[in-house]
Amino acid sequence: MNALINTAPAGFDVAKIRQDFPVLKQKVHGKPLVYLDNAATAQKPQSVIDAIRHFYEVDCANIHRGVHELSQRSTAAYEQTRGKVRQFLNARTKNELIFVRGATEGINLVSQTWGRKCVKEGDEIIVSGLEHHSNIVPWQMLCEEKGAKLRVIPVNDSGELILEEYEKLLNPRTKLLAVGHVSNALGTINPIRQMIDMAHKAGALALIDGAQAAPHLKIDVQALDADFYALSGHKAFGPTGIGILYGKSKLLNAMPPWQGGGDMIRTVTFEKTTYNELPYKFEAGTPHIAGGIGLGAAVDYVTAIGMDRIAAYEHELLVYATAALSQIPGLRIIGTAREKAAVVSFVIEGIHPHDIGTVLDRMGIAVRTGHHCAQPIMDRFQVPATTRASLAFYNTTAEIDALAAGLQKVKEVFS
Ligand code: ALA
Repeated sequence: MNALINTAPAGFDVAKIRQDFPVLKQKVHGKPLVYLDNAATAQKPQSVIDAIRHFYEVDCANIHRGVHELSQRSTAAYEQTRGKVRQFLNARTKNELIFVRGATEGINLVSQTWGRKCVKEGDEIIVSGLEHHSNIVPWQMLCEEKGAKLRVIPVNDSGELILEEYEKLLNPRTKLLAVGHVSNALGTINPIRQMIDMAHKAGALALIDGAQAAPHLKIDVQALDADFYALSGHKAFGPTGIGILYGKSKLLNAMPPWQGGGDMIRTVTFEKTTYNELPYKFEAGTPHIAGGIGLGAAVDYVTAIGMDRIAAYEHELLVYATAALSQIPGLRIIGTAREKAAVVSFVIEGIHPHDIGTVLDRMGIAVRTGHHCAQPIMDRFQVPATTRASLAFYNTTAEIDALAAGLQKVKEVFS
């Protein structure tokens, strides 16, 4: 690392933070790993790894089912995470937090329960041109099933949603706004407080895909007045296969259950089954217990650093990265919104993103190349794919220097 890491906000000791992430200590192809693919998945601090290991080594038992000691311990640890996430998101009660596999499953849960019950022929659902496929396809499937219509908020040349056009889409047939808080492909931070307000004024609900926001921003679902908010644990320094769907309890209570099985029932007879209370009504079957416990450790970890400090540091990284990459001739940044998370998506004239990614990999630099599961926004910018560097609070300006130097090399290789 070079001296530039000292540009971190006072007290933000990135060198110390990096010590908590064992994966960052390795070399790849003989070079120190520079991990810039955090929007795909973030790395895990030792405390998360230890929490998962402790569960399997010491407490392993099924939850909500046993009177024995191990089951009591594992149930307590799993349910503690729900309490931690309640504080993290500022939900009213723990019962408004449903454990799911990730943001994708959370969105599908809403589309298949609330959506199937409440969306009728001729109704409209609004998504945006920035969405990840997981916040498009579930609504398309629902619209096809119901004869409803999907409307799309257009995006300007900076990668921002055009709010005047959104306003025009809202009408009495609008049932839902489904929009990402932060774009995975471009990093745009959408003005969701305002957008939720506008949806509510039109009589619609608002679901926020928070997969890319939860790792980087302080979130307050009550202040936002979001009706649903979905996030993935693995992007927020927790394990894969676990996530959270927040929903207002009055909505969750009125929704039919989704999957049937254990835990989601109160009583079962062959004549009739009655369902459990929130949140268990939506949690059929043995869940990802270790994942839930690991997610709790991840929430503890970022909370101890402070989401505001994380956001401030990452903003400095974004400014630095934008300046460094802008100096590379022929490089065009796709997505220059005024409000951005630390994502830099770009193309280089005459070089395919996969070639860029492959050459960078040989230098130990991990970026994502492709359409980022967001094909419509690639179409909007008339590119088949981009190279994307997505940063986290353990990245450094020295790593951005390494990326910029690596891109100069890429240019030499393909010149
Ligand atoms: N949605 C993840 C990404 O943006 C996989 O890379």
